Amino acid sequence: MFRTGLRRLTAAAPASNAIRPAFFSASASSSFAAPVVAAANPPSQHTLDVSSALGVVDGFVGAIGNTPLVRLRHLSEQTGCEILGKAEFANPGGSVKDRAALYVVLDAEERGLLKPGGTVIEGTAGNTGIGLAHVCAARGYKLVIYMPDTQSQGKIDLLRLLGAEVHPVPAVAFDNPMNYNHQAARHAARLDNAVWTNQFDNTANRRAHIETTGPEIWKQTAGRVDAFTCATGTGGTLAGTTRYLKDVSGGKVQCFLADPPGSVLHSYLSSGGKLVERSGSSITEGIGQGRVTDNLQPDIGLLDGSLTIADEKSIAMVYRCLAEEGLYLGASSALNVVAAKEVAEKLGRGHTVVTILCDGAYRYADRLFSRKWLTDKKLIDAIPAELQHHIVLP
Ligand SMILES: Cc1ncc(COP(=O)(O)O)c(C=O)c1O
Repeated sequence: MFRTGLRRLTAAAPASNAIRPAFFSASASSSFAAPVVAAANPPSQHTLDVSSALGVVDGFVGAIGNTPLVRLRHLSEQTGCEILGKAEFANPGGSVKDRAALYVVLDAEERGLLKPGGTVIEGTAGNTGIGLAHVCAARGYKLVIYMPDTQSQGKIDLLRLLGAEVHPVPAVAFDNPMNYNHQAARHAARLDNAVWTNQFDNTANRRAHIETTGPEIWKQTAGRVDAFTCATGTGGTLAGTTRYLKDVSGGKVQCFLADPPGSVLHSYLSSGGKLVERSGSSITEGIGQGRVTDNLQPDIGLLDGSLTIADEKSIAMVYRCLAEEGLYLGASSALNVVAAKEVAEKLGRGHTVVTILCDGAYRYADRLFSRKWLTDKKLIDAIPAELQHHIVLP
């Protein structure tokens, strides 16, 4: 359906992203010739990897997707399973939300809602705003962001420096007409050539993962995937990837929702569909939900189960991934890795479990690596003693 700029996204994942045997022959399909290597100096594995890397992509949009699928070595050894993380932090805007941002904009273009010079409006305090800021700049649109005024100045500054017009508004509940999402919708309705992209209930978000994330995972594992798990914010990633993997495997891939404290979806699923009031909170950002969004609704019935992951486990995994794997991950990614480990333990040795590494820890470092913040959150003791030397901020 989406044609513009998605050639690389919808193309089969390149050989460089597939799980490779230890030695493989360099592919001749690369756009660039392999580097010349002196005959006396046989090519190293690294040279072969470079020679089969992707060719040129078209701008920011062309660089979205086809992220590596990273085998987490320590957790794989520990569980006797293959634990694989989709490295979404490698998207050009730095998170999994680049995919959704691109799809909601392309969807608005295709539906004739957005023409050159138009305005995109969204309610977001996080990665979707960052993804949209890049996509809008790359495609020639203005971006207006509404967010609750409880968000840090750092987030406002970041979106402004990326070119967005930012409106921090009082933090009120969704059923209040002054909620930031409703204000975003009204702003779009007031303007010509403007669209409220509505990431929570616009299913172009879910479609990004049906058409890109799911097929990439299937291709990268050569169809050898037993389970998939991740947390939900809008639900686009979980729903779309689950839909694709269920369809392509004839229902064989087991899919699990991973929930942080303060989200209602684990209890919704385990109670057979009872929606309770939200209570509690989590240190994770971008995930946790109080309702079944339109993105999640069509696929929630496909799920095989759900897990709830305590903040103590997520924060410890932030530190483990850094120390053991060299991966500097945000807390939602770490929660997903804990969920993948728990799913692997439930399935038993010999299975392949895939999860999402949503973003890096860069935007969260002042909290996740601060002694004061960890102490205030009563999480300092959750960090294993041998990893506490990473807590370098006061
Ligand atoms: C850091 C992070 N992780 C996970 C998610 C959840 O992704 P989705 O909205 O597709 O459920 C988000 C969404 O904003 C996010 O910012």
